[in-house]
Amino acid sequence: MTPEILSLAKYLASSRAEFTLSEMNLYLSRKYEEKELYKILKPHFYDLDLVCDAHFKCIKLVKQPLPADESVLRELEGLFKTPRLPARIEKLVESYIEHSCGKDWHTGETAREIRENIVKQKEEYWGGKSQYPKIRIISYLLYHFPVYFCQYQYLLLDLFRSGLLTTKMSILDVGSGPGTITLSTVDFLQKLLGIYSKKNIDVKLNIKIDTIEQAQENINCYNELTSSYLSNETDNASITITEPFHAPAGAAKPQEDADLIVFSNVLAEMSIPPVERADAVERIASGSKNLTIVIIEPADLVNSTALRVTQRALVKKGFNIFSPCTLIWGIGCSGGNCWSFEEPGNIQVPDFMKKIARTEESYRYINTDMKFTSVILRKDSQVKHAYRAKGKFVRLANLKKHVGKRVNIVASVMSGNLGDEKTFVFKVCDATTSLPCYAVLPSYHMNDANRSLLEAGYGDIVEIFGTLIRENKAFSSYNLLITRNTAARHAN
Ligand SMILES: C[S@@+](CC[C@H](N)C(=O)[O-])C[C@H]1O[C@@H](n2cnc3c(N)ncnc32)[C@H](O)[C@@H]1O
Repeated sequence: MTPEILSLAKYLASSRAEFTLSEMNLYLSRKYEEKELYKILKPHFYDLDLVCDAHFKCIKLVKQPLPADESVLRELEGLFKTPRLPARIEKLVESYIEHSCGKDWHTGETAREIRENIVKQKEEYWGGKSQYPKIRIISYLLYHFPVYFCQYQYLLLDLFRSGLLTTKMSILDVGSGPGTITLSTVDFLQKLLGIYSKKNIDVKLNIKIDTIEQAQENINCYNELTSSYLSNETDNASITITEPFHAPAGAAKPQEDADLIVFSNVLAEMSIPPVERADAVERIASGSKNLTIVIIEPADLVNSTALRVTQRALVKKGFNIFSPCTLIWGIGCSGGNCWSFEEPGNIQVPDFMKKIARTEESYRYINTDMKFTSVILRKDSQVKHAYRAKGKFVRLANLKKHVGKRVNIVASVMSGNLGDEKTFVFKVCDATTSLPCYAVLPSYHMNDANRSLLEAGYGDIVEIFGTLIRENKAFSSYNLLITRNTAARHAN
């Protein structure tokens, strides 16, 4: 890189709304091909605020929220209705497996070894610790990667709806593993750009993705998958993926001016108590002002409740919960022991998963169930639902006084249906109590007045009028019986 090229690009980027790379030759001491200039400047596009297209026309980018009008949103939501790995990613993962383990990886001794690792990895992972020597990354790609890739796009959709995704973004993927979050983000943004272009909405993107990862073999896999994926340039987008920072997250320095930091299935792997994990998050986040933090963990009891402990420790440090929890009465969440997760459904089985599952007990190698616990945090008091309760409702913390009576309550729906088709059961929470509360709707009581309970999404707020309170002493919990005389309505 000659300093002359960079300083000229800086000058042009600061003084013009657009220019072509060939124009640079008017001012340089020697002539360069446009392609050469593009290659030299590409790693600097993010800092220069430039997006350069296939014709080498460079445009100065203004940072603003990505337009999320109704028609764009509907189309984007439509794309995620049948969640699956995109064909290109599926192919990429399968070729990685093939060249790591040979073309016949899904038969014979290699397949046996991989299957053994998948089972072992599941056991260790739920136990909260995991090592990734060599074949482990293959097992991870085959078993965990597809679901984690797809479920993250649900959270991205939420960030997009709320205006938290912008045209210029610095993203940090902590504990990146093989690149699940990085690849999922790029795929999401490319789909979005496709929709903009179809609708003739002129949007350009300038994205930089940094990573912190402690395992070298995962870094190797990350580098290979992301560089192959990005080898096709995307028009209207400059996407820079930097070399992963090889270190434990606890030792990483604060990330400067990040817009989005993602901890996906990594905090539970840190061998420190959940409260102390908040220190690592806070330190990494301390260099960024206008930041969104996304933390995702598995939905099982141990990891899910641990995330809520970390979340509360982060709130004490000055972060606010954007979603899924709403402080309905304006007071901080007192709920310890909170087990709440979302279940957006199943993904389609990728071909490579089908191949490794062609054996006895194939169900052991099929993983399609999206089920996760997450929190989105901000520091500027922005929240997804700004709802506040007014006097006509009973706080869940006060239910003891109302057992056997009909009362009005307002709460967030904090689970999918935990019951069955005969009796719908939803965990509900208003952030005033740590005792679990469940709205219980027998199907024979369902009618137009109370049906909206079923239609509420995870974290949505419902006002419930005339619910009968029952105490479940055996489980130290309360049931809020919804009968045909109970009305429920959305409140966010
Ligand atoms: C379960 S994988 C998750 C990978 C990816 N984020 C995803 O959601 O699929 C956990 C990853 O975090 C890495 N990891 C675990 N503890 C870490 C730490 N303290 N610092 C950095 N990376 C860590 C592991 O090496 C592994 O790549």
